[in-house]
Formats: sequence, structure tokens, C-alpha cells
Amino acid sequence: MAEVQLDFLGDLRRTHSCGTLRSSDTGKTALLMGWVHRRRDLGGVIFIHLRDRDGITQLVFDESKNAAAHKRAQELSSEFVIAVEGLVDKRSADTVNPNIITGEVEIAVSKIWILNESRTPPFPVEDNVDVKEEVRLKYRYVDLRRPKVQKNIIMRSKVTLAIRQALYAQGFLEIETPFMTRSTPEGARDYLVPSRVAPGSFYALPQSPQIFKQLLMVSGYERYFQIVRCFRDEDLRAARQPEFTQIDLEMSFPQEEQIYEVIEPLVQGVVAAAGKKMDAKIPRITFADAILSYGSDKPDLRLPPFYCVQDLFEGTDFKTEGLPLVAIHIPKTGVISRKERDEIKAIGQEKGLRIFDDLKRLERDYPAQMEKVRERVKAAEDDLVIIAGSAKPLEGALANRRVLELCGQMRVLLAQKYNDRHKLLDPEDLRFLWVVEFPMFEWDEEDKRWNAAHHPFTSVHDGDFDKLTSDPANCRAKSYDLVLNGVELGSGSIRIHRRDIQTKVFAALGFSEDEAKRRFGFLLEALEYGAPPHGGIALGLDRLVMLLAGETSIREVIAFPKTAKGTDLMCEAPSTVPDRQLRELGIRLNIPNS
Ligand code: AMO
Repeated sequence: MAEVQLDFLGDLRRTHSCGTLRSSDTGKTALLMGWVHRRRDLGGVIFIHLRDRDGITQLVFDESKNAAAHKRAQELSSEFVIAVEGLVDKRSADTVNPNIITGEVEIAVSKIWILNESRTPPFPVEDNVDVKEEVRLKYRYVDLRRPKVQKNIIMRSKVTLAIRQALYAQGFLEIETPFMTRSTPEGARDYLVPSRVAPGSFYALPQSPQIFKQLLMVSGYERYFQIVRCFRDEDLRAARQPEFTQIDLEMSFPQEEQIYEVIEPLVQGVVAAAGKKMDAKIPRITFADAILSYGSDKPDLRLPPFYCVQDLFEGTDFKTEGLPLVAIHIPKTGVISRKERDEIKAIGQEKGLRIFDDLKRLERDYPAQMEKVRERVKAAEDDLVIIAGSAKPLEGALANRRVLELCGQMRVLLAQKYNDRHKLLDPEDLRFLWVVEFPMFEWDEEDKRWNAAHHPFTSVHDGDFDKLTSDPANCRAKSYDLVLNGVELGSGSIRIHRRDIQTKVFAALGFSEDEAKRRFGFLLEALEYGAPPHGGIALGLDRLVMLLAGETSIREVIAFPKTAKGTDLMCEAPSTVPDRQLRELGIRLNIPNS
């Protein structure tokens, strides 16, 4: 770095931030501090845009008025940190800058202090510059200065405050639970922390505070919440991070309805805090209907549902393999070219679907049936309707669901493909949805066993207790998801509060008595000491803010996120540790050569 003489802050205090001065402040003396955003040197006059968190203010260094300050301004470069003092001047009408909030004024600088210099930043502190994500993450402290990222982080803070306000207003207590604990049952791999004092023993970082929040209900706290970090070692995608934040809550003596009554005002408050709009009520759909109408347990309501239409072709020679035949409807695509039709077929084929896209031919061969199809899907003239079915016969109890799910994926892919023609997937259009009555179990094809669809502490639906062992495929749970625009935002359930029922559910999940005791013995025991009926939910804060900010990756709303490979490029974590540290922990590495 060039040698620049730096000044001390001394007892200087700012009088204003860079976003506050207006023409009504003309004539005042202001002392501002911030970063050199832009510098324009016109010889006798130097203009600087000074930036802080609040905004940008123009500084003027005029050689004819203050030669010493002007001389020092010649030393400034991008991202230098300075303090300046001067008079607030009203700009003439032709020099007002409508692009900055303080654009009616400028500061005629009389004194300047250079508090720190800066190397040339790895990329300009501006939006709309093309920077690789790796570079952004390596220099995250610079990236975080860019307006769009800063807006997201500020929105996150406002959302967090709105959550606390909503929950405190409803009588929830904020209680912390441990990070160094035992394995928790959310189905991912654990991050382990070795113990030095008990070599060979490990803490697990919590995948969620699930068990602790249930214990807090046993302890009589009635309404608990926490905005809490969770840790899961799982395959990462755009909406997943190895450490992420949940809005976690639990209530005693709740009906499912009361959980919705707590969450709905919370969501309303959060959406308002983010400056967005939503409908007054959140609609509900059962899991079974969601699969039938959207082929997904997290339907995106910005798109219309699809419809099974095989009944309309009964008695004709239309070949359907006997599985659901689905009419997928994407509004306002306009006319589809031959090439696009082939592309649609190829996308379908990749998914194992057969696409009947030639509606003209279908309309010629099956005119009455096709009229009914259009009627059923409520398609307008310039809407795309395709009919899809399985490419090959599928077997098994879940075959129908599989075809519907593939059609559901197809529906979303098509909407994304035609999104730019007509903004179908408008991020400003926030469509929340409750999906209720999830199945209790999920069949694990690899291990040939039933797993808990939510987690093993979830209550069985009142009418389905008998199905626990006799018909697990159709046994419903008292569990629910909150979905926003096709993304699972949160999950929860009414829990099992009785030891005898918990034991039965563990048995249905194939846990031996011993395994259940070894993993969750302390919870089972706690259920014997007056555990009240209880239930709760956890919402993903990162996902919520991501959607409110109109982003497609949660990394955009986390101050210091990890890459898709789980690494922190800035501080280079994970990293190796000195042998001495391993020895203290009683650990010897045995890493296979790759
Ligand atoms: P679940 O496992 O469904 O439920 O998690 C709740 C919500 O947390 C968010 N989430 C994630 N966000 C970012 N990265 C991840 N890796 C990640 N994993 C989950 C999602 C999800 O909907 N204990 C239960 C809740 C309960 O029953 O009360 C639980 O953790 O938005």
C-alpha cells in the first residue's frame, strides 16, 4: 500500500450519518465518517461520494476555498476510511442527484482526517458487477458492503426483531438450549465434537433443539421459543447450509389449530417488517390432496394445480398404462414452437414421463374428451396444456404417487422455462400454505423399513392409531408444514406425551427397546414425570429471509455462509489441527489415500 499519513480519531464524533442530510440542513456544520465510495478529480475541485451504512453524501474539496483539505483529498482512493467536517450546502437545481437520498445537498469540506487506507478492493463495492461467488465469499467483509447484500442482512435483522415481537406478545419465553449435546433425531449426519476430558467420547452438535424443547414443556414452561443455530451434515443445495437458523417453538396443551394461530400473526408481522404483502389467511391442504393436485408436498400456489384426466379417456383407445394421466397447465405461454415441444418431450423423458404435447392431434382424434380436459384445467387460449403419463408401467403401492410427483416436478420445470414470457413465478407474490395430515411413516427402499416421516416423537392422527402396525402406509400423523412459494419453510407436529405410546411408535419404527433407551432414554424417562400434551414447529429463518428478499440461494441472506461443499473460504475452515491438539483428544488420523 502507498504510504499515506494517517490521522487519529481523537475525540471526534459524527454529527450525522451519510444518509440523513437534506436541504433543510443547509448552513449546518456536519462531521461525517465513512468510506470513500467514488472519487472524481476535476483538478481544482475533487468530488467524493462518502458512504456509510445509511447512505451516500457528496463531499466537495475546493482548492480555492481550502487548499490543505484539497491536497489531502488527492491522496484518497476507493474504500479509504475518512472523517470530514464542513458546511452543508444546498446544490443548485441542475446538480441535484436524484439517485442518492442526500442528493439535494453536499458538504463543502474544511477539514479531513484519513483514518485508514485500503488496498484496491477485489471487486467494486457496487451491485451489478459480475463477481465469482468464490471471490465474494473469500472477501466476504467487502462483499457485505455491497448495497444488495447489505439490504438482505438488514432485512434479516428486521425480520428477527418482528419474530421476537410476535412471540413475546403471545407469551413465549426465549430459552437457550445446549450446543454440545447428544445426537438429535432429525435424520442427517451429526457434527461431532471430541471431548478432551473423556477421550473417545464425543458431543454431537444439535440438528435441532427438538428434545430440549419437549423437556421444557415437561418442566412446565408452557410457551418456549428460540432463534437458534442447528447443525446438519447433509448434502447441500441452494436452500441448505450445514449450519442454519431455526425459529423454534413449542407449546403445552395445544390443539393443532392453536399452533396455526400463533404462526399466522408471526408470519404477517415478518412480511410487514420486510415491506412485503401477503393474503390475510393462510390456506390449508392435506398432504394427500397436495400430491393429487400438485404432485408435491410443498406446492407452489403461484401456478395452477394439475388434474388427473384418465377418466375422461375411458372407453377410448388412448393408451395410458393404467396409471394417472395428468393434464399440466401453464398459463400464458403463448404459442409453443415445434422445437420447444421437442424440448418439453425431452425434459419429460428424462423424468421417465411420456408427454402427449400435440394437442392439435389429440383434439382431432378425441375432440369431446379434449374439450372436457380444457374445461377441467380451466385453460385459456394462450395457455400451455400438456398431458403426461408414466413412460413405463410402474408397480407397488406408491406407483401412482411417484407418477404424480414426476408430473409435479415437470410442472415446476415448465413454469421456470416460461417464466420470462409471463412472470409466473413472481418473487413478490408470496403464497403461504399449510400442508397438513402428513403420513406418519415413509418407506425406505434401501433399508426396506419404515422411517418416521417427520421425527419419531410425532403423534399419530386421532383416527389412525390402529393403522400404526396394521397399515403403516396409510397411517396419518398430527404433523404439518408451512410452505412458501414451493419451498418448505417449516415443519412441526403435536408430540407424543405418553411413555406407552412413544414405546409403541419406536417399536413400529423398528427401534429395539434397547436402542430406544440408549438414544432417547432420558426423554422416555421424562415422559414418566408428568409430561403435558405438547406440540410445536420450527421455521427456517434463512429460507424465510431468502424468499422475502427474492433470492434463490440462502447464502445471500447469511452474513458468513459456507459454500456448497461446506467450506468457509474466508477463514479457510475446516482446517487441519496441530498433532498436539489431536494427541490431547486421544485421536489418531487414519485417512485413506484418495
Ligand atoms: P425440520 O427438520 O423439518 O424440523 O426443520 C425445520 C425447518 O428448518 C429448515 N431447515 C434448513 N434450512 C437450511 N439448511 C438446512 N440444512 C435445513 N434443514 C432444515 C427448513 C425446515 O422446514 N425439530 C423439527 C421441528 C419440530 O418438529 O418442531 C425440525 O427440525 O426450513
